[in-house]
Amino acid sequence: MTEAEGSTFVGRAPVTAFDLERSRVLLSDRGIDPDRLLGQDAFGNAVTAAGLHGLLGRVAASEKAGQDPIYALARLALVSGLPDEVGETLFLAYNQQSAEEAGHGDKVFGNAYFALGGAAPELAWSVVGNPGTEFLRPQDDVHLNRELLRTTAAAVGGVEVVALQRAFPALLSLCAGWSHPVARDLVHQINDVVRPEEARHVLIWRYLFHTIVVPEGEAAINAYFEHTNRGRGAVAAEQLDRDAFVRLVGNRAPEPSQLVGKERALIS
Ligand SMILES: [Fe+2]
Ligand SMILES: [Fe+2]
Repeated sequence: MTEAEGSTFVGRAPVTAFDLERSRVLLSDRGIDPDRLLGQDAFGNAVTAAGLHGLLGRVAASEKAGQDPIYALARLALVSGLPDEVGETLFLAYNQQSAEEAGHGDKVFGNAYFALGGAAPELAWSVVGNPGTEFLRPQDDVHLNRELLRTTAAAVGGVEVVALQRAFPALLSLCAGWSHPVARDLVHQINDVVRPEEARHVLIWRYLFHTIVVPEGEAAINAYFEHTNRGRGAVAAEQLDRDAFVRLVGNRAPEPSQLVGKERALIS
């Protein structure tokens, strides 16, 4: 197998030889052939059942790592001097996103990792580290808070776009190559739960751009572009050029109700 160094869902987020061996042992203990070939990653490297298992551990830890900073972003949105509707919409949307990232990490990918191997993924495997909330602690100055909100929201959005466009399609295609019940269940959960939620997370990135960044002018727009690419860099994805960024943010803010996936209006 050539996957020890290259098997990855986004770029160089590594499933190391050590991870692979751990997954091989766990799967073997459960009667699953760890060397079964499931397909290729985005770079043409072969991925086995053990390789997919290692990826699931990485994805579980990385999704879970998103929970705390996004929970903190919700609170930061209330102390950034924003118009009430914008601040309240972001609070509700980020709070929901925080819960959803934990759900992806624990319920979907963490449980799939466990179901295949009988062990829990570890938080330390997050490909984006575990940023925590300290750097998002609100300051006395609402302008500083708003800048922190803008730059962090951009970076988070950069990661979300990569997850949506690359990570989940890659996992789906690997799962589709395997008739195991856990793989089949994962296909349903990604299609029915994870992808629609991630799509809404990208809408939050767009909403914040149009409601907060655009009114602040060119320097803020440039910073949003740069911090979006910073987020992409954190997961080893290539940088967006300006045209691609403009296409992704679209030309208007989504409706607040779109950000939480409910038909009814958020703010009464
Ligand atoms: Fe997620
Ligand atoms: Fe997300």
